[in-house]
Parts: sequence; structure tokens; C-alpha cells
Amino acid sequence: MRKTALPTLLAAGIASAAFIASTQAFAYGAGDFFTRVGVAKVEPKSDNGEVDTALGKFDVDVEDDSAFAFTLGYRFTDKLGVELLAAEPFDHDFTLSAGGAEIANGSTDHLPPTLTLQYYPLGGTDARVQPYAGIGVNYTRFSDEEINVPGVPGASLELDDSWGAAGQLGVDLLIDDNWALNAAAWYLDIDTDASLNGDDIGTVEIDPVVVMAGLSFRF
Ligand code: NI
Repeated sequence: MRKTALPTLLAAGIASAAFIASTQAFAYGAGDFFTRVGVAKVEPKSDNGEVDTALGKFDVDVEDDSAFAFTLGYRFTDKLGVELLAAEPFDHDFTLSAGGAEIANGSTDHLPPTLTLQYYPLGGTDARVQPYAGIGVNYTRFSDEEINVPGVPGASLELDDSWGAAGQLGVDLLIDDNWALNAAAWYLDIDTDASLNGDDIGTVEIDPVVVMAGLSFRF
């Protein structure tokens, strides 16, 4: 390629992108049904609390996990919508430790469906960058809780369902009438009451940030 070809191509590309941007109005907004699909990473906050068990008090550390996730949503108006976050179950490993030494470990699955009411400040305009923010509620259901405590065979852990507040930020980069690149993040207040062999041992605070990257599609 000649030395001048690349800048020329770039200039042509920028010019045509500007032309498309100025002449196409996708008018995302009122009446749109949409779905977003991608990979979501659930990253619990760093301090997940302390449990008080018959064996002593232990610090809880819940690790992160990534899974396929998707959302379904609807825009009532150009600027207001609702979105439900769904996913395949996330599987988190955790450890219990005392004085920095690991005492026990385990894992749990969870499903954290989250419903948010959303505001799209540029909804209904020609803007190809469409940010949004939402607030709502999270419900998290735990399943397949497992714990291995050395020297205590058959220990059983149970984590109660959690209801909590949720916040969300996201952005769509519109590609055409149906598709957009999407990045989104949720903050979820997930606190679960834990019991070990039937005894209450306290509350585990997971309070994760969920980060998702993928595609948006509107119908
Ligand atoms: Ni919390």
C-alpha cells in the first residue's frame, strides 16, 4: 500500500461514517422491545462479612464468576423503559478464613434476576451513542450450596434468598436499525442469611458489581 493510501482511506471512512450518521435517524425509543446478550462477570465486593459458627468466627471471601447473560426490555416512551436481567446460573467459589488462614471452602450457584426502570437521556434523538441509567430491584436465589470443612464431614450450608436494591448504568452504540454494541453494569445489594448444619451463622454480603459486554437487538 502506498504511503498516502492509508490516510486517504481513513479520511474516506470518517467522511462516510459522518455522512451515515448525519443522514440516518434510527429513532430508538417509544414502543421498542429489545434484548441484550453477552457475557456478564459478577464481581462480589471485597469484604463479604463474617460468620459466627460453632467452630469459631470466620471471614468470608466470595470469588467472582462469569456466565452468559441476557436481558429483555421495553421502552414505554422515548426516554423511559424497563429491563429484566436474566442469566444462566453463576457459580461462585468462596472461602472461610481466620487470621488469614483458610479454614473451609465451598461453592454456590445463584440466579440474580434484576428488574430496572430506566432513563435514556438521548432516547428519540439521532444520537448513535445512547447512554442509560436505571434503578430497581434484585432477587437472588441460591442453590447447590456446598461446603468442605476439614474434619467435619457432611457439613451442610444453606443460603437464603435475597431481595435488594439495584442500580444500573449502560450504553448502546447504535450500528443500524436493529443492532447496537452494548456495555452495561449493575450494582446489586445481595445479602444472604447463612446457616451451617441448621444453625444461623450470620449474613454474607455479596453486593456485587455485574459487568456485561455484548450486543443489543431491538425488534
Ligand atoms: Ni448489602
